[in-house]
Parts: sequence; C-alpha cells; structure tokens
Amino acid sequence: MKRPHILLNAGMTLDGKIASITRNTEISCKEDLERVHEIRKKMDAIMVGIGTILDDDPRLTVHKIPGKKEDNPLRVVVDSRGRTPLDARVLNDDARTIIAVSRAASLEKIEKIKEMAEVVVCGENKVDLGCLMDELYKKGVKTLLLEGGATLNWGMFKEDLVDEVHVAISPTVVGGKDALSLVEGDGFEKIKEGVALKLKKHYTLGSDLILEYEVKR
Ligand SMILES: NC(=O)c1ccc[n+]([C@@H]2O[C@H](COP(=O)([O-])OP(=O)(O)OC[C@H]3O[C@@H](n4cnc5c(N)ncnc54)[C@H](OP(=O)(O)O)[C@@H]3O)[C@@H](O)[C@H]2O)c1
Repeated sequence: MKRPHILLNAGMTLDGKIASITRNTEISCKEDLERVHEIRKKMDAIMVGIGTILDDDPRLTVHKIPGKKEDNPLRVVVDSRGRTPLDARVLNDDARTIIAVSRAASLEKIEKIKEMAEVVVCGENKVDLGCLMDELYKKGVKTLLLEGGATLNWGMFKEDLVDEVHVAISPTVVGGKDALSLVEGDGFEKIKEGVALKLKKHYTLGSDLILEYEVKR
C-alpha cells in the first residue's frame, strides 16, 4: 500500500498540552504560526479530526503569510459519522475539501456534505486511517500535514502512519487533567512499545522552541 508522507505538527505548552481545560489553544507565538502556514503552503493536504472542527471551526488555509488561493492545500476531515456542520468554515470555497466518513455516517448527511465537499468512505464504525491514506495517495496526495487533535494523533501513531513530528513548545504551563495532551487515545502499556523518534533539528523561534523529529523504523 502506498501512502502519503505524513508530518504531524502541533503547538504545545511545556507540560505537553495542545488545548487547555476550556479547549483554548492560543499557544504558539506569531512566528510559529507563520512557520506552520509555510508548511501548509508546501504540503498537498492538511488533515484534522472532527473534534478540532467542532471546537475551533478552523479554515485550514494559508492565511498568516502572503499567498494565493492556489497555495491552500486540500483539506481533509476525519469524521466517522458525518458530524461536520454544514456551515463549518472548512467547507467554504477557499480550497478543496474531503470529508472522510465511515459506513456509520447517514446517507442523508453524506448527500448534504457532497453538495459542498468530496466524501470518501473508509471503515465500518470509525474511519479506517490506512484505507484513507491509500485513497488520498490515489488522489495524488504525496505529502500530508496532520494538525491533530489529540485523538486523531493517537489513531495515526497507532496505525504507524506518522513519519515526522514537529512540535513548537511554548514557555507556558497550563496543567489540568482534562486538558488535552499532544496524544490522547488508549496509549501504549509500556514505554518501550511507544513510537521511537530521532531528533533531527532544534531551534528557537520567537518565544518557542521548535523540535523536529523523524519516526524511527
Ligand atoms: N495546539 C495544537 O497544535 C492543536 C492542533 C489541533 C487541534 N488542537 C486541539 O485539539 C482539540 C481536538 O482534539 P480531540 O482529540 O478532541 O479531537 P480530534 O483528534 O480533532 O478528532 C477526534 C475524532 O476523530 C474521529 N475519528 C474518526 N476516525 C478516527 C480514528 N481512526 N482515529 C482517531 N479518531 C478518529 C473521532 O470522532 P468520530 O468517531 O465521531 O469520527 C474522534 O473522536 C481541540 O480543542 C483543538 O483545539 C490543538
């Protein structure tokens, strides 16, 4: 199976949170947001989970640096049951969008989404991420930026689909057991079962520390 090269990027606090207990995500400095938009510009696609769409209503476009509409990557939302609101900004006409659903999504909702975006069906109750990556590759997606959130990050690591991890660590501590860490989900039982990473580059940018890792295989 051929699949895109996948880069997970996130902004997090020193204590590893990507959102606070109230799901506030104003974490990264201006310079880091610009770095992320430079990455968006270079990638074929950008992908998030439905949790991120419902919490943040992101546009997932290149808008923090100068650019044109053609710079916007394909937007992909992982949404098993087709819960993407029809007025979500990710469905605007700034860029092409794919809503990836499972067979648990209602045909009625799929038809409505299809008026505004493409729909890819993969998996029974949850989106089968391996199948989705295969479908995206067939559609010409060779590079994909995974922008979270925490649950989708886990799903992608669990399926061994992540190739690189870039994090911007903001000099802040927010705590909260109900705040979201970079990766949630079930987790591995033992540390040695975890995803092994190799640090390739590190530098400061504005107030943040950027760490760039590749996944060791
Ligand atoms: N700081 C940052 O860089 C950053 C970046 C992105 C997001 N965030 C924050 O992260 C939060 C959202 O994270 P989240 O964990 O709640 O949601 P999420 O990861 O965005 O979305 C998770 C949802 O995706 C769906 N999904 C479908 N198939 C899946 C699969 N195979 N594996 C995993 N998920 C699958 C599931 O819902 P269904 O079963 O309904 O499909 C699941 O609940 C937001 O508050 C957002 O602001 C922060």
